[in-house]
Amino acid sequence: LTTPTGCPVSTMAAAFDPFEAAYQAHPGKSMAAARKAEPVFYSPVLDYWIVTRYDDIKEIFKDTDTFSASITLDQITPSTEETIGILIQHGFNPGLALVNEDGPSHRERRIAHQEPFKGKEVEALAPRIRAIVNEYIDGFVKKGRADLMADLFQEAPITIALIFMGIPDEDIAACRQFTLDQTVFMYGRPSPEEQKQVASNLGRYWEFSGGLVEKIRQTPHGPGWLPHLIRESERKPGLFGDNELQTTALAGLVAAHETTTNASGNALRALLENPLTWERVCADPELIPKAAEESLRYDGSVAAWRRLAVKETTVGGVKIPKDARVMMITSSANHDEAVFEEPERFDIDRPNPNRHMTFGFGAHACMGATLARQEMRIFIEELARRLPHMRLVSGQQITYLPNTSFRGPQHLLVEWDPRLNPVPADR
Ligand code: HEM
Repeated sequence: LTTPTGCPVSTMAAAFDPFEAAYQAHPGKSMAAARKAEPVFYSPVLDYWIVTRYDDIKEIFKDTDTFSASITLDQITPSTEETIGILIQHGFNPGLALVNEDGPSHRERRIAHQEPFKGKEVEALAPRIRAIVNEYIDGFVKKGRADLMADLFQEAPITIALIFMGIPDEDIAACRQFTLDQTVFMYGRPSPEEQKQVASNLGRYWEFSGGLVEKIRQTPHGPGWLPHLIRESERKPGLFGDNELQTTALAGLVAAHETTTNASGNALRALLENPLTWERVCADPELIPKAAEESLRYDGSVAAWRRLAVKETTVGGVKIPKDARVMMITSSANHDEAVFEEPERFDIDRPNPNRHMTFGFGAHACMGATLARQEMRIFIEELARRLPHMRLVSGQQITYLPNTSFRGPQHLLVEWDPRLNPVPADR
């Protein structure tokens, strides 16, 4: 086996398969040997160049002239003809979605998007987020047992995302039904059947969101991301057409939902697996932002992110050809011993957890990071207040959907003695 540049592929590089157990169990940790011996390598399994060290990844994020974001949303396993047929039937035709756009038009649009992502706007949502979180906790607090994924983290973030987007209250229930399940579709190896099912949901949501954009256009004065973009498009004609708005309704939901669901699951797993840390957090909620940040480093919900080399270049001394697809294992950067001392330790007292790459870096760095952090903080605050005595159900096998990039437990079973619930009337 040789790389596209004609060099021999090492045994380690040939064996790398992100869909297998080692990467799925611990993406960051599984790349420790590569970080040391062969930090940049070509993977024949994926036909991607894999980058594992913190500094190299940061350079790629910074060099927007060489590395294009255009492949960011491409499917790792391309759609079958039948899946494409389903999407066409629904008129599915998304345009650029900010995250996969390059150059000056990306910069101009990013600025135009910014208002609803600002700290004050996001903070104003906190009481509503807290109420939603508590409603879900009400549903299980007296039961003594819950699956935090199914009962809370897969439920609340989608509603919060829809509110953030400015979807009218009366349409939220309908939107919630389009489970888009992007993880395996975009970043995994879906079976043709799985592809067809997701494509049908995507297509139906696409049609539905066209109607929503039309509706919001009639009264674009309210709060939220889409009404804001509609106002911007009126101020600056041509900046966002119907297609861009519909694309935001789609891509925004993917950006805001599964990422935060998974991040919250990863955080609670890490906290409950470290009972002394959980006890500290319950006793002193001021520690919660630090705990959330360390969980984003220790087990981030985005484990890898992609770029396309638009010209020949070198990364960490390795020659990368023009048109090479590059996969940055950001979870490996987050476990790089050169930046994080004892990276395998979940340590909320760490001085620098916020240097993690889970939100990307530079021109495209996640715009929703403030919202995501706030959601995680509220989840942890409310669980620590109402269920400080919960623990992981022992013996459970925690599983992940096999894919390169979106990482979170499928289930997280917890239990407690409801007679010991500390909050009167459970609130
Ligand atoms: C971009 C991660 C939550 C909106 C990104 C990127 C990553 C990411 C890795 C690409 C960065 C790059 O290419 O440098 C995450 C994680 C989240 C999260 C881990 C949860 C823990 C959210 C939320 C929203 C959001 C709640 C809100 C709507 C966006 C947008 C972009 C983006 C609009 C595109 C920015 C651009 O390309 O200029 N996110 N995200 N994200 N995210 Fe998030």
